[in-house]
Amino acid sequence: LSHPRRHPRDAHRRGGALDPGSVTAVILAGGQGTRLRPLTYHRPKPIVPLLNVPFLAYQLALLRQHGIHDVVLSCSYMVEEVRAAMGDGERHGVALRYAVEVEPLGTAGGVRNAVDLVGGLVVVLNGDVLTDADLGAMLRFHADRRSAATIYLTRVPDPTAYGLVELGEGGRVRRFIEKPDPTQITTDTINAGAYLLERRLLDRIPEGRMVSVEREFFPGLLADRIPFFGWVGDHYWLDIGSPAKYRQGQLDLLAGRVATTVSPAGALTDGSFAAEGIAMDPGARVARPSVIGAGSRLGAGCRVGPCAVLGPECAVGAGAAVEGAIVWDRVVIGAHAELRDCIVASEARIGAGAHVGAGVVLEAGAEVPAQARLGA
Ligand code: GDD
Ligand code: MG
Repeated sequence: LSHPRRHPRDAHRRGGALDPGSVTAVILAGGQGTRLRPLTYHRPKPIVPLLNVPFLAYQLALLRQHGIHDVVLSCSYMVEEVRAAMGDGERHGVALRYAVEVEPLGTAGGVRNAVDLVGGLVVVLNGDVLTDADLGAMLRFHADRRSAATIYLTRVPDPTAYGLVELGEGGRVRRFIEKPDPTQITTDTINAGAYLLERRLLDRIPEGRMVSVEREFFPGLLADRIPFFGWVGDHYWLDIGSPAKYRQGQLDLLAGRVATTVSPAGALTDGSFAAEGIAMDPGARVARPSVIGAGSRLGAGCRVGPCAVLGPECAVGAGAAVEGAIVWDRVVIGAHAELRDCIVASEARIGAGAHVGAGVVLEAGAEVPAQARLGA
């Protein structure tokens, strides 16, 4: 893959149609993932594993599927970890470059910081949105309307945790209210965290300070009557930024609710994925759908699944049960322990006979004593 440095200004509009090959994606991957703590203490949100694959791989696959191969990661938190996981993008079929912030610049500042790496049209993605949105249809909508900025919108029952977007005639954005309070709710359409922006608009973002796309940049477009449209998609969509949603995203992937070309490592056998080098006692059972990471060991009489994700090099003790649980790498689960609907980060140790229940999130290296009971 080539690493295009610069694009002719308006290549994406040549002949009226949009050419996705001349579009650059900027993925906002610089947040601290505070709502996903303690998982994000040692692993930044953009690369938390979903079915043992770093989250960003799903976004890169979506971009690639829609013909977008030129991608910039806008980073500021745990940059070296992100770089180590994603590299130059070759493995994911894209050319990946990095725009690194010295201090966090916010969601608009992070895009501004990538300005020298982008061409005529920019696709901005929040780095925590799992979706199978039809970006091709969104690009066509943008071109047809002669829009300067287009937001992908989705519908949710409660917009208070999101950016509420009210549309006017022809799909023009009329109001944008970030994290509205309950009295401000006039619609169920929210900002789904994917934008198409003409590059020239980036000049509106002041340099060298924190700028929010939601609280400053979008309201500025409205005030100046820039052609600014909302495109309502009817696709799978989830912000994975809280433990419950991070787990939900994986249950949805396991259930086939998300159209993606990413698949976990290994072979699909009986509805579950098993990576290489797994040592399974003949009396161990795996219930579909589940994912077992490379080099994991499953002891006699243990049961993994349904809906379990076991990271690489885990050890599941004899008679233990792991169900609906997301378990990262090198976790040791004692004999007859039970893990249900919880999340366990790397290298945690679960004592024999312990019970870890719904909603529990264990940080990396956590030690649960034998026979302990945590959660529901
Ligand atoms: N580069 C960079 N620098 N990225 C940042 C920074 C920063 O200073 N701050 C946040 N980000 C990234 C995060 O990593 C994340 O991928 C994205 O920007 C959005 O930040 P969140 O903290 O996840 O925002 P949110 O979920 O509360 O709200 C946003 O997403 C909603 C949809 O999920 C808003 O865009 C809402 O309007 C939207 O509805
Ligand atoms: Mg978010």
